[in-house]
Amino acid sequence: MTALLQVQGLTRLFGGLVAVNKVDFEVPQGSILGIIGPNGAGKSTLFNLIGGALPPSEGRIVFAGKDITGWRPYRVAREGIARTFQTTALFEELPVYINLAIGRRMRTRSGFWDVLLRTPRMRREREETTAKVLEVLEFTGLGKYANEPAGSIPQEAQKRLAIAVALMGEPRLMLLDEPTGGVGMGETDEIIDLIGRVRDRGITVCVIEHKMRMMMSLADRMVVLNFGVKIAEGEPRQVCEDPAVIEAYLGECIA
Ligand SMILES: Nc1ncnc2c1ncn2[C@@H]1O[C@H](COP(=O)(O)OP(=O)(O)OP(=O)(O)O)[C@@H](O)[C@H]1O
Ligand SMILES: [Mg+2]
Repeated sequence: MTALLQVQGLTRLFGGLVAVNKVDFEVPQGSILGIIGPNGAGKSTLFNLIGGALPPSEGRIVFAGKDITGWRPYRVAREGIARTFQTTALFEELPVYINLAIGRRMRTRSGFWDVLLRTPRMRREREETTAKVLEVLEFTGLGKYANEPAGSIPQEAQKRLAIAVALMGEPRLMLLDEPTGGVGMGETDEIIDLIGRVRDRGITVCVIEHKMRMMMSLADRMVVLNFGVKIAEGEPRQVCEDPAVIEAYLGECIA
């Protein structure tokens, strides 16, 4: 399998703090990479670097063979990388289906005149967006909430909605920052199932999670960060039993 994403020597300083320190890894097309590590290890910063929210201090990010280092977020998104945030970023007062339609914006080009003059492009894009909203509602099991304000649906469904919004842009790579964060242990099954089905659609996934048990069943490979440094990498079972990981993070391999 060829790597869809390659991260090489990626480094980010905040003043004197090295939040991400010479990190290297590759993510094969169609796989799930799990990223774990203690609080403050640099996991979210890593996503901010890949997604273009922050420029790296050093290093390179190569996506589908193209050097995207330092690209702005909208350009990274157009190239096919979608992300969700640790704290869910939805338009809470707006209905679920509108949140989804907004998630389509980087795939549409209609501007003010298109809307005013109801051009064929605007009509075509509106039809495409409607069809995609219906398809994604079905795929994510959120159909019953379509007309509810996003902020009023259960927390677990809001987490699925964040993934659904990311799907609207038809990405090739999804970066999921704690997709089950804030959701009780007993309520994560649908989210885990959804992430697996996203991968089955051919979308490559990088997922940050604290729930080790979930990673064991979901991830093809794992990367472990501690103080910005990659301290382990490999198959989940191998990483879970790695003494350095147990010392830094796990205490013991519970999964
Ligand atoms: N914009 C910023 N400015 C200054 N320091 C930052 C900034 N973003 C992150 N940091 C610092 O970088 C380090 C890594 O933070 P990051 O949020 O990436 O950790 P994390 O692994 O996602 O942690 P958590 O598991 O708590 O979400 C922390 O020490 C944090 O305080
Ligand atoms: Mg984080």
